[in-house]
Amino acid sequence: MDILGIETSCDETAAAVVRDGRKVLSSVVYTQIPLHKPYGGVVPELASRAHIEKIREVVREALDRAGTKIDAVAVTYGPGLAPALIVGLNAAKGIAMALDVPLICINHLEAHLHTPFLDTEGEIPEPALGLVVSGGHTNWVYMPKYGVYETIGQTLDDAAGEAFDKAAKLLGLGYPGGPIIDKIAKTYEGKDYIPFPKGRPREGVSALCGLEASLCVSFSGLKTALLRYVQQNGGTAKLAEDGEIPRIVASYQEAIVGALADRTATALSRHAAKALVVGGGVSLNGRLRLALKETCDKAKVPLYTAKPCYCGDNGAMIAALAYFRRNVSGAEALKADVHPSLEVGE
Ligand code: KG4
Ligand code: ZN
Repeated sequence: MDILGIETSCDETAAAVVRDGRKVLSSVVYTQIPLHKPYGGVVPELASRAHIEKIREVVREALDRAGTKIDAVAVTYGPGLAPALIVGLNAAKGIAMALDVPLICINHLEAHLHTPFLDTEGEIPEPALGLVVSGGHTNWVYMPKYGVYETIGQTLDDAAGEAFDKAAKLLGLGYPGGPIIDKIAKTYEGKDYIPFPKGRPREGVSALCGLEASLCVSFSGLKTALLRYVQQNGGTAKLAEDGEIPRIVASYQEAIVGALADRTATALSRHAAKALVVGGGVSLNGRLRLALKETCDKAKVPLYTAKPCYCGDNGAMIAALAYFRRNVSGAEALKADVHPSLEVGE
């Protein structure tokens, strides 16, 4: 079964064709990063217009490269920016109607958790623990069976990617911040890390989200600590002149990675998972991959991460997950609407 997947939830216009949920026949991603760079973040109105301009070309290329007959069309219907999601959903409806094939609406976060299985064979492990780390989300998800999702932990404020992006903005390093910080942090060879707060785990149930507090993270204190550090040490220009930026970003990255690895270890200790499955743009981070590998080795479970080309937003993950969802919807989905605040498992 060959499914066309379309993704326009944020700042990537993407389309792909995937066979039987695993084999990627084509994957085309047009990124809008240069468009949003001057603003230091995604501008929804600009994103929507750029999706409208590019969607036809991106889908055409994905179809041409795959050179196969399409059996269904899958599309992200949430979570994401409403004006951006609408472009993909409407395009998908039109294509599904024209080809007379079913339309399948997909949850973007659940699709990220499928990325480690793209272009691979072999069984998908279950039960598994999932970790989605992206620009908009940080979620720990227990998957007792493939396709069944229960959020067991999350961020109480900023997502991990957002924490990277805001720090890079504060330090004047550029956008998006994650890859820039990852690269600069690698140039710091010392171990004299600034003790930025790692948002120590709390006990009981979080009043903010109703989940176990020991499985939640908070990055707002870290961001404030960075701001204070910069202010107390002469400002960004002075710190750059003194060659301090690599140590600062490496320390900041350690705090984020430390918090993510710590909560992952706790989640693995509480749930009988046979694997840790990680997806989302932040899973490209080299230091995070190392830390999660160590965590998994200690817990004696394998770590599943995606190929770098599938870590960020893409259409392949949407098409792939749809294969396992094909009975969930059909022509009825033509009435579907976007769902900007969709949660995992909803
Ligand atoms: O999954 P994604 O492409 O889009 C969302 O669904 O949000 O994730 C984008 C996020 C951005 O915040 C970006 O800074 C972060 O992923 N990111 C990274 C790295 N590459 C991308 N964060 C840390 N290290 C990286 N190497
Ligand atoms: Zn994403």
